[in-house]
Amino acid sequence: MKRAAKEKTGGADIFARAERAAKFIRSKTKLRPQIALVLGSGLGAFADEFGSATRIDYKKIPDFPSSTALQHAGRLVIGMVEGIPVVAMQGRVHFYEGYTMQQVTFPMRVLARMGVKAVILTNAAGAINTDFQQGALVVLRDHINFQGTNPLIGAHDERWGVMFPDMSRAYDRQFRAAALEEGKKLGLSMFEGVYAAVTGPSYETPAEIRFFRTAGADLVGMSTVPEVIVARHMGVRVLGISCATNMAAGVLDQLLSAEEVFETTARVNSQFVALLRAVIPRVARALKEP
Ligand code: HPA
Repeated sequence: MKRAAKEKTGGADIFARAERAAKFIRSKTKLRPQIALVLGSGLGAFADEFGSATRIDYKKIPDFPSSTALQHAGRLVIGMVEGIPVVAMQGRVHFYEGYTMQQVTFPMRVLARMGVKAVILTNAAGAINTDFQQGALVVLRDHINFQGTNPLIGAHDERWGVMFPDMSRAYDRQFRAAALEEGKKLGLSMFEGVYAAVTGPSYETPAEIRFFRTAGADLVGMSTVPEVIVARHMGVRVLGISCATNMAAGVLDQLLSAEEVFETTARVNSQFVALLRAVIPRVARALKEP
């Protein structure tokens, strides 16, 4: 099944396939969202609160990869937040699940073909920066791709964008400022940082974390960067927000576990939701500005 799905999204006609999936989704709802949310590990519950929602299982969407990871619902939810139409991915697939980079980023392409102009990507990440406390919300300023590959590798299709896309301003400055401002207004402990992406699924060694810190990373995680690269390639504006669910390996004299990650996301979930509710109208306003 996985191999069939791989062949389907691995071909040169990803554009046609993304268009087909987008058309399928559009046929299920009258809403035409310009803002997408990718809700990471343990953060998917927000989409259960949307008004006038249409929910579509990833399995039903042509060529959409469906997640095997724990805590991921695997559902697209289109609905209203603060009077603004949004489309949310309740769960994402990861490279470590064995999907190709084309499959991991296919949903982002579909969102763009649906007319999405801005994406808010959320994730759980390990804190490398010792100023961050567990549970802190961190607005991404930049990233370092340590995944050893790039989702744009393959035959260049100019319908998506240029061959060598610029990444100097991958994380939208206006969105970043708005997120920090709204977070502070809510009294949340907010930071900005550089996200290092690794493949996982094993967590890092303490030596790797020291290396990433020297390289300028504040956070480490196993997602987001492929989606950011593909989104920017298509001209979609990006806001990235991490929940620092744990101190990265070796920062504290203790072991890491996925349970700790889930416990922290559960604890911080209501703050994260409040931040997203405040940020979405700001992003919508920014999209309307000339
Ligand atoms: N490392 C990598 N990915 C993660 C971590 C971590 O410490 N915490 C949550 N996702």
